[in-house]
Amino acid sequence: MSAAATDRREVMLGLTRRALAHFQAGTTDQAASVMHMPVAAYIDPERYRREVERVFKHLPLALALSIEIPQAGDYRAMQVLDVPVLMVRGKDGRARAFLNACRHRGATVCAQGRGHARVFTCPYHAWAYDTQGALINRYAAETFGDVDHATLGLTELDCAERAGLVYVKLTPGEPLDIDAWLGDFVDELATLQLDTWSIYEQRELDGPGWKVALDGYLEAYHHNSLHGKTVGQYTVGNLLVLDTWGPHQRLTFGRKSLAELVDQPESAWDEQKHIRLIHNCFPNTSISGILGDHCLVSQIFPGPTPTTTVTRQTVLVAKPPVTEQERAASELFSAMVLQAVKDEDYAVGRTIQAGLTSGANQEFLFGRNEPAVQNYHNTIARLMAGHAR
Ligand code: FES
Ligand SMILES: [Fe+2]
Repeated sequence: MSAAATDRREVMLGLTRRALAHFQAGTTDQAASVMHMPVAAYIDPERYRREVERVFKHLPLALALSIEIPQAGDYRAMQVLDVPVLMVRGKDGRARAFLNACRHRGATVCAQGRGHARVFTCPYHAWAYDTQGALINRYAAETFGDVDHATLGLTELDCAERAGLVYVKLTPGEPLDIDAWLGDFVDELATLQLDTWSIYEQRELDGPGWKVALDGYLEAYHHNSLHGKTVGQYTVGNLLVLDTWGPHQRLTFGRKSLAELVDQPESAWDEQKHIRLIHNCFPNTSISGILGDHCLVSQIFPGPTPTTTVTRQTVLVAKPPVTEQERAASELFSAMVLQAVKDEDYAVGRTIQAGLTSGANQEFLFGRNEPAVQNYHNTIARLMAGHAR
């Protein structure tokens, strides 16, 4: 085993030990106290606007997986809030991001979605840009008149690729310091080896507001009650082992199979089998269930009002299914996580959303057993108070 693999096994064993101790004692990691959060944090449109602006426009966001754009010319075009983004891998192998708006009069240069192109030609008057954003051709340039091509490339957004994720800052001209933002969390993310997985399926789900939706990704308290028929079949409800790297968090859930370990010596433990990890990259990316052959990446984007989000779910497979049995296993995983999020988490989230302005609650409560949700909201407060992370 390589040194890194040995270290990782130690980490996994340590997490398994902590999960097993909670399992046996009926306990969980806890915050220092119950947290009270004014409901205004969810419904005040002005506060929402300011927080979305701070959190989503001025922080590095993981907008794509590197495996979505593996080759030169591969691109992903997407709308994030009011920003049309085009991410594309250049001939030099570098992933770049641009505002997906033509420099002639602003038309969207590339239709939304993933694909491959050598040149992006604007549909309006056919100005053409290369994969590094340079304006390389103008239709009927001699009739148009002289302009300086060098100043008319697509507007670049700062972009950095780390641990299989393409990070972008949505505000042009604002540098993105990815190392400062991720800190040591980058090493933790690297252990997921995200660039070795394959995309099985990708889809978008409408959900409730940003914070209502996100809260559900950050606790195990609801797993037995809400997810008894889906993901909760396998995990121990209300058992959470939590580690944090500034705003970023690793949630470890215990699997019910922890019971098998009670009488086993540690040397016999399979460190992959009895826990499930969820990596939460602040503010909106959750990488879940990475162990085993399947993984779900969820990216949650605020909608135009405080009441809506769009979630991109990407189901990853360790290797593309070949046999009937492998296909069935991938299908089952994909259908289960769709059901758990769409019909369970977001269905309940919509009921929360529907009652938010009713006056039923002046504040929400985050229990001591919901420390990751507390951290999430504390991070928002820290950012709004002017801190960098
Ligand atoms: S707006 Fe793109 S070429 Fe005119
Ligand atoms: Fe859930």
